[in-house]
Amino acid sequence: MEGELNRLQTDHMGRIQRAARHLLDLITEVIDISKIEAGQLATYQEKFSLEGVISEAVECLQEKLHHKDLILERQTSPLQLYTDRRRLLQCVMNYLSNAIKYTEVGKVVIKAIEQQGNLVLSVTDTGIGIRAQDQARLFTQFTRIDSPQVRRTPGTGLGLYLTKKIVEEVLQGQVSMTSEYGRGSTFVLHVPLYAVPTSTGDRG
Ligand SMILES: Nc1ncnc2c1ncn2[C@@H]1O[C@H](COP(=O)(O)OP(=O)(O)OP(=O)(O)O)[C@@H](O)[C@H]1O
Ligand SMILES: [Mg+2]
Repeated sequence: MEGELNRLQTDHMGRIQRAARHLLDLITEVIDISKIEAGQLATYQEKFSLEGVISEAVECLQEKLHHKDLILERQTSPLQLYTDRRRLLQCVMNYLSNAIKYTEVGKVVIKAIEQQGNLVLSVTDTGIGIRAQDQARLFTQFTRIDSPQVRRTPGTGLGLYLTKKIVEEVLQGQVSMTSEYGRGSTFVLHVPLYAVPTSTGDRG
């Protein structure tokens, strides 16, 4: 209302916005984990197409891509699913945002195929990679693998823990990963295309 912002003000506004977003993400993660651990995370299953989920995830993360010398490649088939759309989107976003966070140059590839009634979705990056001895604890709470790149990037170490919980307990699937230190990583989720219907229908 007071007119154009100058460069310094724009810079401050950007920082405030990023800090607010980070705080909101953190609060949402902590609440989701509390709900899952209390057995109170309701599932809402519906029919939807995978393409829309991937487009939404990519759109939300577009801004983060702009700041890097990164290409995002999409190799996905148009699949129909019956499961919890919002929770699947959350998991895809967690994998994709990690791939972007921990990769400076090269590319991030998102692939999706159908395999024996399952959606197999993978996110591969050409980032910092993870040593074999660190891989086993990635999906546990508050794990951050120390490196200059990780120290520079804000995070709590809850994203992968939450993703595993959601995939196993809401989407009725499994997670896995492979990585080569210094070269890149692939994070995968295997989720039934048609989830077993649950009695809870409320969004929670
Ligand atoms: N694609 C990746 N490449 C390299 N390291 C990764 C990748 N994804 C995750 N990591 C490592 O695993 C750790 C845990 O990831 P996780 O997503 O759980 O937490 P985070 O990204 O640090 O924080 P947040 O809670 O905001 O997601 C990261 O801190 C990083 O060390
Ligand atoms: Mg993360």
